Amino acid sequence: MTDAKNRQFLIAARPKGMVKESDFRYAETAVPEPGEGEFLVHNEIVAVEPALRGQMENRANYAAPLQIGDVMRALGAGTVVKSNNPDFPVGQKVQGLFGFQDYLVSDGKGMIGRIPDGVSGEAALYVFGGTGYTAYYGMAEVGHPKAGDTVLVSGAAGAVGSLAGQIAKILGAAKVVGIAGSDEKCRWLTDELGFDAAINYKTEDVAARVKELFPKGMDVYYDNVGGEILDIALANLAQGARVVLCGGISRYNKEGPIEGPKNYFNLVYARATMTGFIIVDHVHRYREWSQIMGKWIAEGKLKYRVDMIEGFENLPKGLIRLFTGENIGKQLIRIA
Ligand SMILES: NC(=O)c1ccc[n+]([C@@H]2O[C@H](COP(=O)([O-])OP(=O)(O)OC[C@H]3O[C@@H](n4cnc5c(N)ncnc54)[C@H](OP(=O)(O)O)[C@@H]3O)[C@@H](O)[C@H]2O)c1
Repeated sequence: MTDAKNRQFLIAARPKGMVKESDFRYAETAVPEPGEGEFLVHNEIVAVEPALRGQMENRANYAAPLQIGDVMRALGAGTVVKSNNPDFPVGQKVQGLFGFQDYLVSDGKGMIGRIPDGVSGEAALYVFGGTGYTAYYGMAEVGHPKAGDTVLVSGAAGAVGSLAGQIAKILGAAKVVGIAGSDEKCRWLTDELGFDAAINYKTEDVAARVKELFPKGMDVYYDNVGGEILDIALANLAQGARVVLCGGISRYNKEGPIEGPKNYFNLVYARATMTGFIIVDHVHRYREWSQIMGKWIAEGKLKYRVDMIEGFENLPKGLIRLFTGENIGKQLIRIA
């Protein structure tokens, strides 16, 4: 390992409009040496998520600010390769905020944890991590579909949406409809994940299809995208509906003032609620949810798909794919 270097992608610029490769700068440093009580992690798989775009601009109030020149933030999974810390011996699989880089030193405090035996790095970064628990908490506890309810999910073929729709079905929803950006994604939702219908928002009249599929309005709308699709959902609420504000990706690359939903007043007529949440507020419940989701996965009720691309050089591309809609399921990048 003496010849090894630590490849990194640093933040070169605050993104303007669509995030692009030139917003990152490649750098190489020496592999750091762990001091007393510390250990060296070799980062192997990196996870990207849409919120990182906002964090590059310090838009998120729940994450520490990032400066130009900082290593790009991201969750990763890897292995301890040198250790002066008996709690994290060599060979221990770990996950945490490792960033766009090959190696990092940790003292085991903060955003780092052991990956349990039998759990893959992919699963730890997806279903048994913040992304999976976002789908669980947002659907089961904020949307809380009851048996017989009707549910609409946007961003449905992405990491969160594909799980959220299946969770609604598991909890007894009578009808679950997904909205996604290609026919291939729509087919995956209906043919493999058990969604009752899917709408391609790039080629279909979403307002007409939503009206047709929810003649009495929907009981739960799980929103990952915001914008026009949120407005269409707000126009089609059943009495007592729950609107789950999980994300608003349609706005993340927009500059300047962003229009609010025109149809918000239907929340009044429908006696409905619209609730936002941030999953990191609920970290203390992750263990409880891992048991519930682990059981569903073992029983074959909950399926998950990882969209793995290879190569350290593709880290910025991996993030950009979320905004071009190229990913199906959870976007990960294998760097080692
Ligand atoms: N509240 C929380 O704590 C929390 C935690 C995690 C994630 N989130 C949010 O959950 C949402 C999904 O995150 P994820 O990690 O699962 O990402 P993801 O859905 O796997 O990837 C993003 C997807 O969004 C769609 N998209 C991109 N630009 C769009 C646009 N302008 N309009 C509509 N759809 C667009 C693309 O699919 P199409 O091909 O369908 O366009 C793309 O595949 C994001 O909004 C994210 O910020 C919230």
